[in-house]
Amino acid sequence: MKKIACIGTGYVGLVSGVMFASIGHNVICIDTDPTKIKQLSAGECTIYEKDLEKYLSDAILNDRIEFSMSYEDIKDISAVFICVGTPPGPDGKANLSYVIDSVLEAANIISDQAIIVIKSTVTPGTCKKLQAMLEEKGCKHKIASNPEFLREGSAVADFQSPDRIVFGGDEFSLNVLHEIYKPLIDEGVKTVETDVTTSELIKHASNSFLAVKLSYINEMANLCEKIGADVETLSLGMGLDKRIGSQFLKSGPGFGGSCFPKDTLALSNLSRDLGVNASVLDAAIDSNLKRYELMKDKISSICADNKNLAILGAAFKAGTDDVRESPAVNIIELLVSDGFKLKIYDPVALENFMKLNIKHASPATSLVDACIGADAIVILTEWEEFAKIDLAKIAEIVSLKVIIDLRKVIKAEEAKKHGFKYYTIGQTNDA
Ligand code: UDX
Repeated sequence: MKKIACIGTGYVGLVSGVMFASIGHNVICIDTDPTKIKQLSAGECTIYEKDLEKYLSDAILNDRIEFSMSYEDIKDISAVFICVGTPPGPDGKANLSYVIDSVLEAANIISDQAIIVIKSTVTPGTCKKLQAMLEEKGCKHKIASNPEFLREGSAVADFQSPDRIVFGGDEFSLNVLHEIYKPLIDEGVKTVETDVTTSELIKHASNSFLAVKLSYINEMANLCEKIGADVETLSLGMGLDKRIGSQFLKSGPGFGGSCFPKDTLALSNLSRDLGVNASVLDAAIDSNLKRYELMKDKISSICADNKNLAILGAAFKAGTDDVRESPAVNIIELLVSDGFKLKIYDPVALENFMKLNIKHASPATSLVDACIGADAIVILTEWEEFAKIDLAKIAEIVSLKVIIDLRKVIKAEEAKKHGFKYYTIGQTNDA
């Protein structure tokens, strides 16, 4: 087993560090946030991620993980994984400054034989530039690429049984990476070995393809509404074709999160800068942005002058506390600008939502609390809790018996049985 370091303890760095420890490595996680380091060292998970806390406690118990703010502590590692954020800048391009800073900081400390592995999602071509930068400084370290494909909400499971592990780099780096991931490879996980640029592009192109697939099914949902077809059956009928596949074919309020919006924009900008036509990708990005407006218009036209709404869901999807680029948040902001007064309930992401300080969007302590004083109910995130709403009780609280379910978590006939008018996407709505 090896001693490895992870720089950054966000959604990628913390999951990677803890799960590397779970397969037998000794890991040191570095972060600049003292509060995070203190919490993590005490075994407290700083992100909401299913099962992560259990693995964190095991790693601490088995003395396989430590948390520090000092790069001095990563002196004797064999590989350092760069897992810092690459947030989009005002021009939509990925801000790589945190990656560059952490690479330079690590290179000053670690031995020449240690490799620097870029796990953060970086614009294709970045690893090559980082390698040139190190060579210019006389550093002998090799830069490798190992993009992550973890999905928030299922990150632990995704680490343990990934569809594939992608390695980019020279022969020495590939051997080190193979050793690090050996327990997974021995269990039959497929690997793809390539150069750093192809490795970076596999990540961006995969995320962008999934985003295109989502914009496609969301536009088919619009068509279904016009011709009286049913988008769920459409998805089923399409998805049974193995060449299409049933995953990422569920229509919703648009795609969001800290990855798809950022990665699609980064790939689009890179293509444009290099004079390469990315019209398919650009159309998917544009379609998704327009969808938030479309969802707001749907809600506005149904609710008209009834401006007090119960909003169920703020997270960008169920299973996470993350509200970054959340479709729910985008639609909430558009509703507020249309004069709606909102009470927001989310079982997990409410604290993160409230940090956004959106006017006329006040927190509710429970689903029922959100409905008190509300005219109608709007579901924006597919939390399991919302599928079990006590409709009989809620029917007595809301003034308009209207449910607008943009995630299709409630059964239409259930809603109608309790006297609600039920509206959703991709199907013929109530008259
Ligand atoms: C994504 C990629 O899936 C993952 O491989 C990569 O490492 C990080 O980015 P994540 O952002 O966690 O993961 O979320 P994901 O589950 O992919 O969902 C992205 C968005 O698409 C969410 O807003 C989700 O609600 C939406 N979505 C997803 C749909 O609307 N319909 C679907 O069928 C699937």
